Amino acid sequence: MVITIDGAAGVGKTSTAKEVAKKLGFQYFDTGSMYRAVTLHFLEKKVDFFSDSEIEKALDTMELKIDFSEKNNMKLLLDGIDISLKIRNHNVTKNVSAVSAIKSVRTLMVNIQRSVTENGNFVVEGRDIGTVVFPDAKHKFFLEADYDARAKRRMADFIKINEVININEIKKDLIERDKYDSNRKLSPLKKPTDAISINTSHCSFEEQVIQILKHIESKDERN
Ligand code: DC
Repeated sequence: MVITIDGAAGVGKTSTAKEVAKKLGFQYFDTGSMYRAVTLHFLEKKVDFFSDSEIEKALDTMELKIDFSEKNNMKLLLDGIDISLKIRNHNVTKNVSAVSAIKSVRTLMVNIQRSVTENGNFVVEGRDIGTVVFPDAKHKFFLEADYDARAKRRMADFIKINEVININEIKKDLIERDKYDSNRKLSPLKKPTDAISINTSHCSFEEQVIQILKHIESKDERN
């Protein structure tokens, strides 16, 4: 079974999805990290994002593995190396929207997402999870928050990896990324019509998690 949590950058998807997965005994699955891994691979291989042949070659030779062996933790290995931290850096963050708008990249990622979740229970977070990847999921959530709250969360993420970035730069980055992610032709970020919206600007992390768990419980009781 799959529970989907979609939303823009910095709305609190990751921490929420992790906790919901933990509470339900499900596996947590962050699909944004896959697009970041491809972006890192393209940057390291100096792939021209406008060259179909370079993109195809880079995707063919990419050795990307998702490691779910640790309960409630997901690791990504690129060519056998754990890149879970490296994919959070500013350069990957700046380029990931462009890479995630490439059709062949999305097709490959969506195929992997569907095949790895075939057997098991997952809380999957991303942008198109409830709309495109798992349109038939029973439980769908869409998280939203204002720019100040989102920038503060992203700032805390950068501090964790020892990157010092100005909060205004982060805000500008978020606005640009939203514009790009919401307006791209393929699988743009949008609320699934049958998803429950949760605004996380002013509610605590615990409240967000409780709201989601309550919705799941009450829908499960109804059918
Ligand atoms: O959640 P994140 O910031 O780590 O995601 C990085 C980028 O990946 C984001 O700018 C858009 C893209 N993405 C996507 O296109 N589809 C998804 N399912 C998840 C992320």
